[in-house]
Amino acid sequence: MAVESGLPNFQRYINGVPVPNGRKMLRLREKYIIMLVLLTFGTVCFGAFFFLPDLRDRVSMDGMRKHLRDAGNVIFFPHARIGPDGHPISDKAKILRHDEYNIDPHRIDDKVRLRGKIEAAWEQDKKDKASLVLVDPLPKDNKVEIMEINNKVVPAEKPSDKKSDELKDLSNDKQKDDKKINNADTGDVVKMEQHGDKSTADETEKRRETVLKMMRHSWDNYETYAWGANELRPISRHGHASIFGNIPLGATIVDAIDTLYIMGMKKEFEKAKDWIDKNLKFEGSSDLSVFETNIRFIGGLLSAYALSGDEMFKNKAKMIADKLMPAFNTPTGIPQSMVNVKTGSSRNWGWASGGCSILSEFGSLHLEYSYLSQITGDKIYMDKVMKIRNFLQNIEKPQGLYPNYLNPRTGKWCQTHVSMGALGDSFYEYLLKTWLLTGKTDKDARTMYDGAIKAMEDKMLQISKDGLTYFAEYKSGRLEHKMDHLACFSGGMVALGANGSSDPTKYLHLGAEIARTCHESYDRSATKLGPEAFRFDDSTQAKATRQNEKYYILRPEVIETYFYMWRLTKEQKYRDWAWEAVQALEKWCRVEGGYTGIRDVYQLNPNKDDVQQSFFLAETLKYLYLIFSDDSVIPLHKWVFNTEAHPLPIKS
Ligand SMILES: *[C@@H]1O[C@H](CO)[C@@H](O)[C@H](O)[C@H]1NC(C)=O
Repeated sequence: MAVESGLPNFQRYINGVPVPNGRKMLRLREKYIIMLVLLTFGTVCFGAFFFLPDLRDRVSMDGMRKHLRDAGNVIFFPHARIGPDGHPISDKAKILRHDEYNIDPHRIDDKVRLRGKIEAAWEQDKKDKASLVLVDPLPKDNKVEIMEINNKVVPAEKPSDKKSDELKDLSNDKQKDDKKINNADTGDVVKMEQHGDKSTADETEKRRETVLKMMRHSWDNYETYAWGANELRPISRHGHASIFGNIPLGATIVDAIDTLYIMGMKKEFEKAKDWIDKNLKFEGSSDLSVFETNIRFIGGLLSAYALSGDEMFKNKAKMIADKLMPAFNTPTGIPQSMVNVKTGSSRNWGWASGGCSILSEFGSLHLEYSYLSQITGDKIYMDKVMKIRNFLQNIEKPQGLYPNYLNPRTGKWCQTHVSMGALGDSFYEYLLKTWLLTGKTDKDARTMYDGAIKAMEDKMLQISKDGLTYFAEYKSGRLEHKMDHLACFSGGMVALGANGSSDPTKYLHLGAEIARTCHESYDRSATKLGPEAFRFDDSTQAKATRQNEKYYILRPEVIETYFYMWRLTKEQKYRDWAWEAVQALEKWCRVEGGYTGIRDVYQLNPNKDDVQQSFFLAETLKYLYLIFSDDSVIPLHKWVFNTEAHPLPIKS
């Protein structure tokens, strides 16, 4: 801790393979601290530093400082969420890579300037409204389950329209705003509500159209300022390397393409498809996360294939999966975390309990790999994931729990940290969803899911003083009363798993209670957006207490749970909660150049992180859109979403 407190600049958003920050001069005080650290931990620190070959060519004092701090973490806090290269290991191991920078909020949020623009845009919009035709991708026939991209749909393409839409949505007065923007071309919309009156249906439709405009705003800005790069920096308005590094792999394009399809954004879909066809090659020499590459790239491509039937997507998915194969060359078949797609070398994170593989990473390949075998006829992918599954099925589990780290060489668990959030999460999700994807024929997957959930219920499920249900973290026999934003997906999961469980009513109720808890974590903040993690103790309930857990980076998990709860219960409150999130996103995360994460959900006018995560387009906006759509759009008896919200078709 002493090491950390001496280096306050690096307490947050120190992610990814860090881009050394040349702006900051090393101060004297920090030099002394570093010397101290060096003397005390020199050997280990340098060991940790040189563990990262991709950093060797980027040595700087700032970089060094991070490594020293993080090496300290590895020694003292073996479960610390910060990696030696500055990754907060976080995030279904969604290892984030916000470079260090400072955004002057006044530069962007110039209220006066902005209001003037909004008003001008409104005026313009009134004039243009007659020509503004909104996209409606819903088929007229409710029974059509995969949307045809409708040629008749004419997106609002006039540049003046586009600009005015963007600015208009910045309004705080959303209801008024909606009336202005959403009453075009309503005559042609399918009936939205099975359970509501006409006015509810109208309101839902307006909300859906607002989400569509949000997608358009995110996508158009990515296209304008960062096309081909992995992600967009919406404030500085250029490409962002993201977790996939500096090689432009078009992560946002691949992650968003099925969302474009589902929303009926035909022109954008075609452009994205064309880019993938011509440019997506995976040839650069960079270490890629097997897990992230699978859920975003392979998952996105497979979904695009399933929705559109275009073989090109299938071939690209196979090409990428083949490049990841070296990761599986371990004695147990448990893959390592990273592969260099050029050299074929693979390795694990140094911070992961001394080079262990991570449960949520190697446990979240099954859906994509089994579907890939199904559509290519090549069973090698299925063999790889069945080997993992069988290994996990047969290995001894401490009290039925699955710890987060496993050594791929010895086959032993590395320690006993168990989590429904970061490092665990999507492993449980994939057990349930594998059962669903196989048309409920893979009974082993269901049995393992039931066993894992039962053990976590017994050991980790808690009810707080004020009656909120949450999954705590389990660490070496002790509970840490913290729930990650990531763990909020579990409400939707247990509800989705209710049918087929020993007690459907109980699990549906549990899903509802977790949804309520996660909603509280949003509702108890100033921005009405939820923190990265929230805690429960004598004085705190469902709020972040640590500064480095107060950020929100456009994550989907809470909205994902609202989506499942809406589909499964049809209770209006879930749509209303989702709408609250839309309003908060519009108010705090929307900037002229896209959507950005924020650094403290408890502050009004929070600082912004200047990253538009690809999962915002892949997941957050998709689930929002689907909440306000009819159930016939991606119905749950036909589709299973991977953990990046890419739908795969259930085997019939
Ligand atoms: C529960 O699952 C069964 C078997 O798959 C299915 O027939 C039934 O419709 C499901 N019930 C609900 C409420 O979804």
